[in-house]
Amino acid sequence: MPQVSPVAPRRGEPDIHSQYAGTVKILVLGPGAREHAIILALLAENDTHDITAAPGNAGIAHDIPCVQIDANDPAAATALAVGLDVELVVIGPEAPLVAGVADAIRAEGIPVFGPSQAAAMLEGSKDFAKRIMSEALVPTGRAITALSLLEAETALDDFGAPYVVKADGLAAGKGVLVTTDRDAAVAHASHWLAHGGVLIEEFLDGQEVSLFLLSDGHDVVPLSPAQDFKRIFDNDEGPNTGGMGSYSPMPWLSERFGSEEAFVREVIETVGQPVIRVLEAEGTPFVGLLYCGLIITKDGIRVIEFNARFGDPETQAVLPRLVTPLSELLLASATGDLAGRPWPQFSTDRTVCVVLASEGYPESPITGRPLTGLDAAAAVPGVHLAHAATAIAPDSGATDPSAPAILLATGGRVLSVVARATSFGEARDRAYEAIRLIGLEGGQFRSDIAAAVVAQEQSGR
Ligand code: AMP
Ligand code: GLY
Repeated sequence: MPQVSPVAPRRGEPDIHSQYAGTVKILVLGPGAREHAIILALLAENDTHDITAAPGNAGIAHDIPCVQIDANDPAAATALAVGLDVELVVIGPEAPLVAGVADAIRAEGIPVFGPSQAAAMLEGSKDFAKRIMSEALVPTGRAITALSLLEAETALDDFGAPYVVKADGLAAGKGVLVTTDRDAAVAHASHWLAHGGVLIEEFLDGQEVSLFLLSDGHDVVPLSPAQDFKRIFDNDEGPNTGGMGSYSPMPWLSERFGSEEAFVREVIETVGQPVIRVLEAEGTPFVGLLYCGLIITKDGIRVIEFNARFGDPETQAVLPRLVTPLSELLLASATGDLAGRPWPQFSTDRTVCVVLASEGYPESPITGRPLTGLDAAAAVPGVHLAHAATAIAPDSGATDPSAPAILLATGGRVLSVVARATSFGEARDRAYEAIRLIGLEGGQFRSDIAAAVVAQEQSGR
């Protein structure tokens, strides 16, 4: 077993590592609400940070300069980082990581928050992730990598219903099917066998938690846990999506683990630190954010997936609660300087994030429709918006330059409405008050985000 040395939290004490204080020149790569949330957190910490986004979106462009490049292209991203002479590059999505963007920029001597192509395989291949977990003795569901339909069917029958079928590679949220319908499981396996490979996994029953760990390749520090709502419809019905809402923190973890902190410590000791040490020992250190997707089963914590980057929409709920300067944490991770660092501090405020999606999402979103009411939504107390897929209409202002620009929804998940308050009840009310002020023809959002945690809060548990 790799050696485990969790760092004790020292809440309320001054941070001894404040050498990064001051203005930092940063490039944030990616187009979505997660990247907007990262940028808003950096600006909230210090609004003199010199931040550029590429490619960004209309909401990000409202806050900072955006440069239109293909952020998945290592040469283009490196040329931009070098040209801007940035001190730090933060890579938001998985696609540039798997394409080797972090390696290319690091080769120029620029600190990067985001793992190498090799380490990002933790997200890029579920088979690779299972191998690392097995070496690190990490608790996870039993799984079989099927190489033929016959192997897949045998594994499905061995595990029994409900069936869990996972594409091996990146699948933009469409790779996992959990179903009691054997024919549907076989069809999903057949589809993904033709697109690179399939895992059949044991079904795990329990509440899901997303825990983000910042890693410098050797040590880790945790952020505060969050819960994501993955299905498109209320009551967790319908197909999986990229995520339809989130909340943070997760007070109910205390019932099971004594405290949220005890839960986080267990995940670090049994999951995060061992995985980081195995990757380091294999010569592929993981520098960036290790997203631990966990299920709390009756037998304990189990990993259902790793991602190699901040989660979306959990980031939108977690970062507004962060008190420790985000730039310090990202820089310390990118430069191998997390050792001995206290756990980041978080406000006790509650955050609720509700995602607005286009009609037809996730299967076939209808895009290009106008959005209205964003200013009114953002004016609700405690509310802000993180844009995911928005653009100014190309002919906006063509006939009347004094008219307000027309904002269009350009993708499946359009924006996140994030509300912060001292209680979940209030945060949830504010988020829903705000999202109802936004106009988008056919727009959809779940109405039950954080409903259960509000009910617990109000029952005094
Ligand atoms: P993933 O893309 O691996 O996060 O999977 C998407 C969703 O499928 C997860 O958030 C879970 O809700 C569900 N899921 C994945 N693996 C399992 C499993 N072994 N048992 C039950 N549900 C799962
Ligand atoms: N919220 C799930 C993800 O970021 O993959």
